[in-house]
Amino acid sequence: MTEEALAGAPPPVRLWPALDLTGIDFDPVLTELMREGPVNRIQLPNGEGWAWLLTRYDDVRMVANDARFSREAVMDHPVTRLAPHFIPTRGAVGFLDPPDHTRLRRAVAPAFTAKGVERVRDKARAMLDELVDELLQDGPPADLTGAVLSPFPIAVICELMGVPADDRHAMHSWTQLILSSSHGKELSEKARNEMTAYFADLIGRREGSTAEDVTSLLGAAVGRGEVTPQEAVGLAVLLQIGGEAVTNNSGQLFYLLLIRPDLAQRLRAEPEIRSRGVDELLRYIPHRSAVGLSRIAMEDVEIRGVRIRAGEPVYVSYLAANRDPDVFVDPEMIDFARSPNPHVAFGFGPHYCPGAQLARLESELLVDTLLDRLPDLRLSVPPDQVPFRKGALIRGPEALPVTW
Ligand code: HEM
Repeated sequence: MTEEALAGAPPPVRLWPALDLTGIDFDPVLTELMREGPVNRIQLPNGEGWAWLLTRYDDVRMVANDARFSREAVMDHPVTRLAPHFIPTRGAVGFLDPPDHTRLRRAVAPAFTAKGVERVRDKARAMLDELVDELLQDGPPADLTGAVLSPFPIAVICELMGVPADDRHAMHSWTQLILSSSHGKELSEKARNEMTAYFADLIGRREGSTAEDVTSLLGAAVGRGEVTPQEAVGLAVLLQIGGEAVTNNSGQLFYLLLIRPDLAQRLRAEPEIRSRGVDELLRYIPHRSAVGLSRIAMEDVEIRGVRIRAGEPVYVSYLAANRDPDVFVDPEMIDFARSPNPHVAFGFGPHYCPGAQLARLESELLVDTLLDRLPDLRLSVPPDQVPFRKGALIRGPEALPVTW
């Protein structure tokens, strides 16, 4: 018997088109792939060739946390991918492996721990209350995304980064241009260069600083020679951009609560379950389209009888892992009492989302404030008329028309 047969024949390559999904529908292609088996091969709309896709919880966590799978190596492979124009930056935190990755993440870690994000809680709550005051003053109907879900995370990430309030607008515009594929590659690159120059200046002025915001931590780490100025600036850009992920995630969260008033009502009536409830919603929400960044196998690895060869790209689906029936009983059900709830909405392993605690804090403040201050909050259009972002890597409503 040949070696290939021993390891089992590889599954067929499945095309995974970039579907513009609306609402909180789970991607039907991913559902099929999960049904077909734990180890699949996929081809996404951009990049070259095919890649492995793992969908089971244990396999996802193993690959995400195993040094035999490298992120740095993705730099040198034109891997099949969702993003149309995607320029990986050498030395960026998403494309580094330990120990460099660990060194870089360590520089900003204090700002992102549960204790670190507590530093901005009171300020965040006050800023949110101000936004809701304005919303109430202007009266219904309103776009919840434009009025609250977009400006709030920007204000909070700027606060944590140490970006002055006057520069929030510029940060938001640059982020939109960098993340959007519809404005074209040149505008995207121009925006990235401008944000990079901004942070180079800000971090440069904070060398030797003892303050606790992210740009001060980075300035101090540069001053001590622990990270290079380029590394510091690259990380600041990614953290700033990442901060806006909450707009889309909470957009889906509120869309869900507005089409499921029974869930909203429970969270209103039982504030003590809100923290666990938000975590369950984070598990359930299909945060992104298709898959994120791949990893490259550095040696042959066998997973569930399938041989993945050195040099081949591998994707994990955190969305699929969050619906693994071996780990989550009745995974399609939203169960606020689910405990434990070891979901991987924020990833796993060294690349675990640095913004996880911040995103939890913001989501909980949003649920508290909006449910308590707007007891009659509801959609002002039928659910299927809520516009969802198109061609987006991260899913979410473009606008959330509401009334109260
Ligand atoms: C609900 C909101 C959010 C969700 C669901 C989310 C989810 C994720 C996931 C799944 C990863 C990838 C893990 C991997 O590559 O294996 C990630 C990475 C990352 N996230 Fe988040 N995120 C959120 C909010 C944030 C926020 C608020 C920030 C900024 C503070 C942020 C910054 C980042 C960065 C910089 C990375 C790359 C980390 C690395 O490669 O080491 N994210 N996030």
